[in-house]
Amino acid sequence: MRIRLWLAPLILIITTSCSSQPPAPAMPPFDTSISVKDLMANVVDPTADEVWGSVGTIYTKEGVFELEPKTDEEWNHVKASAITILEVGNLLMLPARSGGNDEWNQRALDLITQTKRVIQAAEKRDKEAVFNTGADMYDACVNCHKRFDPAIRDAK
Ligand code: HEC
Repeated sequence: MRIRLWLAPLILIITTSCSSQPPAPAMPPFDTSISVKDLMANVVDPTADEVWGSVGTIYTKEGVFELEPKTDEEWNHVKASAITILEVGNLLMLPARSGGNDEWNQRALDLITQTKRVIQAAEKRDKEAVFNTGADMYDACVNCHKRFDPAIRDAK
């Protein structure tokens, strides 16, 4: 308690000195009426499946099949899907969606970082790298859900 009382004038000084800076520009009128849930179910999830489903090994009764993009169009589809997810990372950081929560923004930034590596792997047409960076992208999804998706966070 003693410490807090001592800090009070200091905080006042800091706040006052900051107010001399120019005000932040006003936000453009973003439409954030699409909920995070709808963004996840309709954009993020189906698009991430395009990345995860593009490479890997499938074992069936008929034999073992290696998945990999073969044409320019197929490789570009992987890249385009990763670009979409990267940009959703930005959409998640809009204040109306983030609520200004630093950890939320950090999780969205991590999704962007990992997705950028998927884009680079697709540009190099490196299927193993797409597989590995895709797995890191998956971790970025899970790390946010563990913290912020009520269905997962509150599941005990
Ligand atoms: C910055 C945080 C964050 C990141 C990163 C994130 N999600 Fe989510 N996701 C959420 C939240 C929050 C919810 C719960 C929304 C709700 O129920 O209101 C959710 C829910 C979902 C759902 C359930 C949707 C439904 O219909 O209930 C799916 C599927 C999903 N996310 C997929 C993904 C995938 C795939 C990724 C990675 C490519 C990802 N998410 C990355 C925050 C995130």
